[in-house]
Amino acid sequence: MTKPIYILNGPNLNLLGQREPEVYGHLTLEQIGAACAERAASFGYTTEFRQSNHEGVLIDWLHDANVNASAVVINPGAYTHTSIALHDAVRAIEPPVIEVHLSQTAAREDYRHHSYIASAARGSITGLGLASYLLGIEAAHHCLSQ
Ligand code: DQA
Repeated sequence: MTKPIYILNGPNLNLLGQREPEVYGHLTLEQIGAACAERAASFGYTTEFRQSNHEGVLIDWLHDANVNASAVVINPGAYTHTSIALHDAVRAIEPPVIEVHLSQTAAREDYRHHSYIASAARGSITGLGLASYLLGIEAAHHCLSQ
């Protein structure tokens, strides 16, 4: 059986829908998860959709993905800009990892311009709202089809 695509979400993303909707849109994380499951199914994958506010939990899930996932789509939230530990975890695992962001981080505050994840991920998709996630799934499928 094909392993699921893990879709991992970092801190504060549980508040989507009510958190700065002018930046992150009106969809809840649950709605994003449902749309991701539908898109992944169109490529023949199931999804494991998770969110944590804790860096170590995200690292544990990346280690888990190394064994149990075919690919990972990750929105690391603000850990994108701070976490060498997440960078190392992304580098350490075999499945392709696609970094996604709802907002266009390059067009925001200076401290959001650098991603510690980008240099470890297979690809990054930013600034497209829900479409970042859906294209992230398509990118994961692309990597798995090569
Ligand atoms: C984010 C961008 C990050 O800079 C921010 O800290 C987030 C969300 C995004 O999806 O646009 O929490 O990852």
